[in-house]
Amino acid sequence: MKALEISEKMKKRIIRKEDLVADKTAFIDARTPGSDKKDNYTIIGPGVSESSKRFINLKEAHGFNIGAAAMPNGCVNSLHSHETAEVFLVSKGTWSFVWGVDGKDGEAVLTEGDVISLPTQMFRGFKNIGSDDGFLLCILGEDNPGKVIWGPKVLEDAKGHGLVLLEDGRLIDTLDGMEIPEDGKVIEPISDEELAQMRKVSVEEMEARVFRFKDRKPFEGAYLDSNLPGGGKKSYGIIGDGMAAVDRPALVNNPHSFCLELVEAEPGNGFKSHKQDVPQVLMVHRGQWKVAWKGEGGEEGEVVLKERDIMSVPTDVYRSIECTGEETGFLHIVSGGDERVVVEWSKEVVEAVGK
Ligand SMILES: [Fe+2]
Repeated sequence: MKALEISEKMKKRIIRKEDLVADKTAFIDARTPGSDKKDNYTIIGPGVSESSKRFINLKEAHGFNIGAAAMPNGCVNSLHSHETAEVFLVSKGTWSFVWGVDGKDGEAVLTEGDVISLPTQMFRGFKNIGSDDGFLLCILGEDNPGKVIWGPKVLEDAKGHGLVLLEDGRLIDTLDGMEIPEDGKVIEPISDEELAQMRKVSVEEMEARVFRFKDRKPFEGAYLDSNLPGGGKKSYGIIGDGMAAVDRPALVNNPHSFCLELVEAEPGNGFKSHKQDVPQVLMVHRGQWKVAWKGEGGEEGEVVLKERDIMSVPTDVYRSIECTGEETGFLHIVSGGDERVVVEWSKEVVEAVGK
């Protein structure tokens, strides 16, 4: 029976692209013209959605949150700020990110495979400027990423469209028959003093926080198994040390509460069997990846992940991660915590490296 338990436990940790459930009224700007065609997804952790109806694929605390946004061409996500780190990974499309109190401090245009880490306490907004529907993954820092702080104009523009945001973060949809509760206090825009406290970030400072996929510089030999047959892979440090066993440079090193790396491998290559005591979330950017696991009780299983599939591997199993199929694979790995991950390689791997 144990194998079945593992399989059920694993099943909810394997989140297919098709398993995502869109929330069309996740935020106060969801009906404001220009911003009314957003689909928001809360995938791992509570995220910052203001909707009481949001669906969460995996509620377990990871030390970070994963969400996503699908937006058609021209759709805008309004200016807002966060109390914890916010990192976007462009899965599909071309996106313009702007920042500053009025969104005019700078602009960064990102395309597929690019990643941006936005500092806290700074207004940011983004728009799909591609010709087609776009898809962005988002990682937010900490178990509780706090509440979104909206730009004053966003709250003003939302008036008259049926959505009311309360001070405690609840979003009341009056068009859906909800009423403002007696104890509810409608949120006030932040004060001029608070606006003046917001971070000023130059275009150059922001560009240093953008991972450009086309300019990526591979790092080989980042992991203990890198030189073993089937262990060949290129590694890109985006945030922190992550799983790297050596001093691999990372784009951004300030604390986020998670590390992020991109791994590129040819079919037949990837990570040999290992485990780690911090959460490990795999997000397939391109190609096909097979994850095989083995628990201490002998429970085993495997799954093939495809583009945009996500898997949270539990800490108590050894797992191997292999690019399969025919194309070069690209996999994002999010690891919990700011510290370098202590990777515990299987006995076979340690022995093979020692030979
Ligand atoms: Fe955000």
